Amino acid sequence: MSNPSEADLIHMFKGIPFTTRSSPELLKSLDTIHAREDDVLLVSYPKSGTHWLAGVITKLYNTQVTLTSPIEFGDISKLEELNKVSSKRIIPTHLDYNMLPPNFKNKKCKMIYISRNPKDTAVSMYHYYRDNPNLPTIDTWTAFFDLFLKGDVVCGSWFDHFLSWEEHENDKNILFLFYEDMKKDLPKIVKEISLFLALNVSDNDIQDICKKSSFSEMKSDTEKENNDPNHTVCALTSNRKLIFRKGAVGDWKNHFTPKQNRRFEEIFNEKMKLSKM
Ligand code: A3P
Repeated sequence: MSNPSEADLIHMFKGIPFTTRSSPELLKSLDTIHAREDDVLLVSYPKSGTHWLAGVITKLYNTQVTLTSPIEFGDISKLEELNKVSSKRIIPTHLDYNMLPPNFKNKKCKMIYISRNPKDTAVSMYHYYRDNPNLPTIDTWTAFFDLFLKGDVVCGSWFDHFLSWEEHENDKNILFLFYEDMKKDLPKIVKEISLFLALNVSDNDIQDICKKSSFSEMKSDTEKENNDPNHTVCALTSNRKLIFRKGAVGDWKNHFTPKQNRRFEEIFNEKMKLSKM
């Protein structure tokens, strides 16, 4: 059988490329999703550390919580599936702020946005494209670099995504986190998350959660599991084994040429001129 074409894998919705694993019917109906006041949304541009954060958050609760698959993943039956979850829901999504169903905003649900240096995000996404059969074939890093800067990749432009959420960074129900801060001092960030979620977690438990959330622990847990679609928080694959690649800060230095770095910085400075980042 020949490889699926790009059209088999990708479709556009409101100007943003989605994989066909997000059905057009579901995307058109997202605004009818029923939100609950105690829902927690875990928001990210792909490859920013979503699984890491999800691992931490689910360990923080000592009551039953359900980590659902991403809002935008699946077909129209998703709406019913989410309604059926009887426990508290932790709901991941890669949607930008403008596309997030208004019910979650109106109910002031707690949302945690995790971001990562876009250079490392680009490199991580490049490897993900290469390893993931649900994404179009990419021949070279150079080709992917151009697509990333143009926003011609799944979930669209990193810059637009980040800026759409950054505008809301002072909203009381939104917590902004950075991958690099988690790498630097995970216990501090876990404490911050627990306070934001109003959870009473002891320092010992925080240490324990951090140990269990290390890259090596999470990678080896995944290697012991089967590919259970319920275990992914990425709308682009259900194969968790594709997620834990290197888990490092600064891997971009092994990929970017000096010229690519200059170009990236130029575009970054231009697009982010109104950003505080
Ligand atoms: P790399 O490809 O750079 O290794 P997402 O979960 O949003 O898809 O992000 C995946 C990225 O987060 C991958 O980056 C992955 O290795 C990294 N990651 C996952 N778990 C991690 C952990 N416990 N510690 C550090 N990085 C982690």
